[in-house]
Amino acid sequence: EKGEYRHFMEKEIHEQPDSVQHTLSEYLDLVSGKAKVQAVDFAALSRIQIVACGTAFYAAQIGRYAFEKYAGLPCDVEIASEFRYRDPALSPGTLAVAVSQSGETADTLAGLKWCKAQGLKTAAVVNVHTSSMAREADVLWPTHAGPEIGVASTKAFTAQVAALLSLAVAAGVARGRIDAVQEAELVKALFEAPRLIAEALQMDAGIHALTLDLAKARDVLFLGRGPMFPLAMEGALKLKEISYIHAEGYAAGELKHGPIALIDEATPTVALAPLDDLFEKTASNLQEVAARGGPVIMITPETAPALHGAGVRRVHAPDCPALIAPLVYAVPMQLLAYYTAVQKGTDVDQPRNLAKSVTVE
Ligand code: M6R
Repeated sequence: EKGEYRHFMEKEIHEQPDSVQHTLSEYLDLVSGKAKVQAVDFAALSRIQIVACGTAFYAAQIGRYAFEKYAGLPCDVEIASEFRYRDPALSPGTLAVAVSQSGETADTLAGLKWCKAQGLKTAAVVNVHTSSMAREADVLWPTHAGPEIGVASTKAFTAQVAALLSLAVAAGVARGRIDAVQEAELVKALFEAPRLIAEALQMDAGIHALTLDLAKARDVLFLGRGPMFPLAMEGALKLKEISYIHAEGYAAGELKHGPIALIDEATPTVALAPLDDLFEKTASNLQEVAARGGPVIMITPETAPALHGAGVRRVHAPDCPALIAPLVYAVPMQLLAYYTAVQKGTDVDQPRNLAKSVTVE
């Protein structure tokens, strides 16, 4: 079943051009350049409240940047186990959304049920379309990643991001924030993702070379700004799950507020640095890491300006529109974790202590 691949995780990483394409087609029409009309009246909403766990929580946070930027729709994202026990204050006109691969995660399901009991309209972004969450929610927003076997989520994550970005565009149109010209541009950009993901998969030799050193690290920092911040946290989660190396994802702007104290020659920093409005800011943070002797792995396009100083290694990611950068940069994050784990000889598909689906608290 793994075919030419050593692990399900590797196979699933390589399936992403297809799984993202299928998921985008659920929400967008390539031919007309339009977002499909949804069962939710986005224009009537005042807020979106997303609940999720683990990787789905990071996908949701990426979705949040898009809902606010493209649809002007306030969006909160919370870890389901916190949300369900803290007596959250809800406002009318809120759509509650659960994001989950399995649709069975106990805390996320409980959060969804609680919102429904409070009278909110509910939706579920799920990969298993017959799951409890799919049945519980008023609206099913499917992802089409296909069955995911590896405990470390990869293709389900990018499918969630693809669905949420598409829904943010649909919401922007419905709320009059995106005109027909912009809509066509954004839809086109999203449909470029499968090809650019395939291009990012070609980064594997470069990434593999870096993991020889990374596998020796005890701690690794992941940094990003904007939607690259949740992706940095996802990269850190992936690395810790399968390689058992301690890793933390931080907003690059937080570096000076504490984590820079960790920097030394033995603590690598992985930076997600697409050439966007925030590039210069991220680059100046990395300059500070390099100046303190910290090894830097910079994931950035070839056209990005160079940093000064030794100790900075670059892996080149494809140039891509800002909207889809989280989909494209997810690939090097996954490959980095995968090759590091292979290097360490861990059980990649079945890492210790973890279950694919957490159906008890
Ligand atoms: O099935 P779900 O998406 O609800 O699962 C949520 C988390 O348990 C899951 O994403 C977990 O963090 C993965 N092992 C991450 O790789």
